[in-house]
Amino acid sequence: MTFEFDLGILGGGQLGRMSIMAAQRMGLACLSLDPAGGGPAAQVGPAMQAAFTDVDALKHLFSVCARVTFENEFVPATAVREALEQLGRPPEFLMPGLDCLATVQDKLHQREAYVRAGVPSPKAVAIADDGAAAIATIGFPMVLKARFGGYDGRGTRTARNAQEFEDYKTIWADGGWLAEEFVEFKRELAVMVMRRRYGDEWLQACFPTMETVQANHQCDLVFPAEADATEIALRAVEAVGGEGLFGVELFEKADGSLVVNEIAPRPHNSGHYTLDWGGPSQFEQHVRLALNLPPAPLDGVPTCMANLIGQPHVGDFRSGLVAAIFSDFGVRVHWYGKQPRPGRKLGHINAVGGDIVDRAVRAREAFYNAWRLDPEPDDLVEP
Ligand SMILES: Nc1ncnc2c1ncn2[C@@H]1O[C@H](COP(=O)(O)OP(=O)(O)O)[C@@H](O)[C@H]1O
Ligand SMILES: [Mg+2]
Repeated sequence: MTFEFDLGILGGGQLGRMSIMAAQRMGLACLSLDPAGGGPAAQVGPAMQAAFTDVDALKHLFSVCARVTFENEFVPATAVREALEQLGRPPEFLMPGLDCLATVQDKLHQREAYVRAGVPSPKAVAIADDGAAAIATIGFPMVLKARFGGYDGRGTRTARNAQEFEDYKTIWADGGWLAEEFVEFKRELAVMVMRRRYGDEWLQACFPTMETVQANHQCDLVFPAEADATEIALRAVEAVGGEGLFGVELFEKADGSLVVNEIAPRPHNSGHYTLDWGGPSQFEQHVRLALNLPPAPLDGVPTCMANLIGQPHVGDFRSGLVAAIFSDFGVRVHWYGKQPRPGRKLGHINAVGGDIVDRAVRAREAFYNAWRLDPEPDDLVEP
């Protein structure tokens, strides 16, 4: 059976865009599904605009693509299941599989899967009724998390005491939130994991362990960690029955022990450095795994990634990029084609070739300075 497209991608953001670009480089055709329309993925290839809950649209995508994968985990597993069943598609058609998706997209089910598998992760319970049981189990300080749909810290709050917990009642009272032990971590780490069954053999491999620095609960800087979190990262992916490419986020405590924060069943911000590290990128590996092709051997040079975040009071981003980034030939820029908004991830830069963290930070600062309107309107003094 021949298909119009080699790979369908559920989601239309920058992770889809960069996966599509990797596939196109290898001569493959992709079709993405983007509820918003005109997003980063739609700008680089054919795209459908429909809701993730639109079973007819999902069926169309599934009938014109040889295989399908995700670029975000917010596609409801129930709608995908219905479309797959109606078409009678085999399980290997979709990567990662539906059960894994359903586990990962609920942060509480994810935690429960780690507990069952003996993988260390923060203790967590659902917040029910007046929250008294959650307080008794977890105590303070406590992290409150939306079970579904959180990203970039948007579904995360910290309550230091019962009063703060009560102050957040408007958000957790309707259900769908969990209470989680606050981890006093030394730093955050991330590992990109590849795991796939080929016949009777399981292939398992990890990209290098990276340190990730968050600003405002959002990934900000990524560089080699000089630590090895491979073993626990693989166990976490196994715990959720994962096949495909996964980003595993971890906390390293003061005593050096590791706990798993969360898993993303797709390319991940902490793997963007692989676009310029000289070896296969996470996006190429994602495409290979989704198409049941073996991933390429991993090898590359130390690289630092800095996210480019939307800033207030800005002008044309292009003048800033040209002025700041292109003066350092070891710094590469990736811009996603999104509408700039303060706090939004709009692109990233990768620095290679020595002093990588300094150079990435300096290039980004120069970009922000050239991009910002001067003087900022708020700084203008009333006469
Ligand atoms: N249990 C915790 N203890 C301490 N900090 C946490 C905890 N959970 C999350 N955080 C902080 O909040 C950030 C975002 O939380 P995360 O669970 O990764 O949600 P998101 O889906 O928004 O990435 C983490 O990267 C970490 O810095
Ligand atoms: Mg996270």
